[in-house]
Amino acid sequence: MRELVILAALVSALHVASLPTDTDVVYKCQEDQDNIAILAAERFINDHHHHGYKFKFVSLDSRRADEKTDLCEVILGITLEETECHIVNPKPLDQCTTRKESETKVTAKCNVTVLSFEGKAVVACYICDTKPDSHEILVTKCPDCPSLLPLNDPKALESVKTALQKFNKESNHKSYFKLLEVGRISTQWMFSGQDFFVQFAITETNCPKRVAYRKQKACKALCGVKARYGFCKSSKVGNEEPEVECEIYKAQNITHPMKHPLPYRGFVKIPPSIYPICPFLPPCLCQGPSDHVSPPPPPPPPTQ
Ligand SMILES: *[C@@H]1O[C@H](CO)[C@@H](O)[C@H](O)[C@H]1NC(C)=O
Ligand SMILES: *[C@@H]1O[C@H](CO)[C@@H](O)[C@H](O)[C@H]1NC(C)=O
Repeated sequence: MRELVILAALVSALHVASLPTDTDVVYKCQEDQDNIAILAAERFINDHHHHGYKFKFVSLDSRRADEKTDLCEVILGITLEETECHIVNPKPLDQCTTRKESETKVTAKCNVTVLSFEGKAVVACYICDTKPDSHEILVTKCPDCPSLLPLNDPKALESVKTALQKFNKESNHKSYFKLLEVGRISTQWMFSGQDFFVQFAITETNCPKRVAYRKQKACKALCGVKARYGFCKSSKVGNEEPEVECEIYKAQNITHPMKHPLPYRGFVKIPPSIYPICPFLPPCLCQGPSDHVSPPPPPPPPTQ
């Protein structure tokens, strides 16, 4: 009963993901309903992922069901992959493609606990292990492809600064856009020197496009209904000026992504080159699909 109360509070407090279609289907944690649970898991994970890129479900690796008196519960081991859609991109997930090996894939292995609540599949918690492909994979698949750099690489950030100035100078939008976050940095060495390829998200500010350079720092990001976000790709080849291309999305009335703390502190090695999926751990603790392991055998008696 206590679990039910906690769950009810959780559902109302968080508007927990429920299945978008098939509202008549009562979810009962049955194996043939796993697609419903998976959809709820994918949606919930993306709704709580506030930095970097959206993730897409790729495979169900394990499942464990627990039948309880008043609740059913299933723990799914699933694999997701990072897509090319940044979280500010309003494109529906099914139109977002996952990355190719040549771009360094990012894979998240997650354990997700799904419950049935009022007939709906509800995510109670999840924990993921998110990793980019190793450098060896990239070199085998595509020896000439650029490889990832940490998200705080100073030279790459310098190129973003220049690229953003260039975008603002050339854009036909009325406002000045500023950096929201760097999504990905990759690099490659050529005869002409080091090349940088950076993807970054930008946000509209309350300043006009032609704001003086020294005033740019004080420009405030617009929030709520009015805020428009954008996504840019810049490339800097050798000593040349960076090239930049941005797309600006229609205002969507979303929570300002930067209102959420940076996710990677304490979870991955600093500095990371990707944004991992952070755990969501409400009252219940998220356990893996095969956590019911027997205790280790006692040590063998000492030999003489
Ligand atoms: C924008 O979102 C907020 C919070 O979700 C909501 O209260 C408000 O009504 C929304 N405004 C519009 C115009 O959709
Ligand atoms: C998921 O569960 C499995 C099996 O219990 C465990 O080995 C794995 O570490 C868990 N994954 C995470 C990210 O906690």
